[in-house]
Amino acid sequence: MTDYRMHFADFGETAYLNCAYQGVFPLTAVARSHEAIDLKSHPERMDPAEYFGLPERVRTHLAAIVGSDESEIALTSGATQGVGVLASGLLLGPGDEVIVAADNFPANLFTWLHMRRKGVQVRLLKNGESPLRVEDVAEAFTPRTKILALDWVNYSTGRRIDLAAMGELAHARGALFVVDGTQGVGALELNVHDLPVDVLAVAAYKWLLGPYGTGFVYVREEVLNRLDLKVVNWQSVEGADDFDALPVDDIQLAQGARIFDVPETANFLNLSGMEASLDFVRGVGARAVTEHCMELLDHAAEGLLSCGHTVTNDDRSNLPSTLLCFRSQTQAATDKLYEQLKAHHVEVSLRHHRIRVSPYLYNNKEDIDRLLAIAS
Ligand SMILES: Cc1ncc(COP(=O)(O)O)c(C=O)c1O
Repeated sequence: MTDYRMHFADFGETAYLNCAYQGVFPLTAVARSHEAIDLKSHPERMDPAEYFGLPERVRTHLAAIVGSDESEIALTSGATQGVGVLASGLLLGPGDEVIVAADNFPANLFTWLHMRRKGVQVRLLKNGESPLRVEDVAEAFTPRTKILALDWVNYSTGRRIDLAAMGELAHARGALFVVDGTQGVGALELNVHDLPVDVLAVAAYKWLLGPYGTGFVYVREEVLNRLDLKVVNWQSVEGADDFDALPVDDIQLAQGARIFDVPETANFLNLSGMEASLDFVRGVGARAVTEHCMELLDHAAEGLLSCGHTVTNDDRSNLPSTLLCFRSQTQAATDKLYEQLKAHHVEVSLRHHRIRVSPYLYNNKEDIDRLLAIAS
């Protein structure tokens, strides 16, 4: 097992198994962020060209990570804004229907529920403890369905859906397929152009190791042309980089998804670290992350099952994810175990009374053994 720990800060007595909560800066991103703070202390040293150069370099990285064109990527503050690009841009109204998994993360749930005020019918898929099956989703479609909105990897079960199967279903029924990829992108290989995915919204502060408040949305080119832009970001108007020749009588929007960029796009305090993180993520490659985490999580699952815990995402060999979620025999026992893990500096999350373990490249087998020693 390759030792990647030299690229990250020393965690001391903590076993940090919580990348699904906050990704960790590689040391290169720490250094770049310090440089950005220095620039804010000395703005006279800032190169004005960076207001346009830095976001474009970040966009290039993101397009390469998901396999899209740069013109299909908008920079956002997280997943919510990305889902909102579609929710507000499509001009849905009375009679339109949207299908949403009830256990999606709120970013890809509340956005749609809020559309009810416009007369949009939101059909919630409630699959309880069972994995979401294509057959269950198929039943929810009607001729009025415009959107199927699902999370790639579920934040509280660790289960991953089959993007090809779900997307094909949506397209066969004439609907768009919107995916929140936050818990997968950076950790799992992906090529959106090979998949029937129309929109992919991602928070970049988890498996892309970005600062909090960063993200992006991929919008397939054909879908972009159908979206209304509610508020103009001045930087996405053609000619906005030349204050001496700004268009005054009429404005022309830039081409591509960048018109949906979050305003103050060139937030250098965030994007400087982000650029270094994405450089690292691309350098190691998603496959290395999947393999490293799977090896650790297989070891964890084996130990947890042998001492009576129940693993929620037990189909990981078929649909790998880098999250492992488990429960003890009772809710009280799960909650107690979570507290014990915290007390022993084993950092995990508790979501819907499941303990979520999400390692990354800085973890090793000893971190998992510490967890198992407490869980047994
Ligand atoms: C699946 C998923 N989507 C989105 C988010 C975060 O969304 P946002 O960036 O809108 O805060 C999380 C955070 O836990 C998540 O797990």
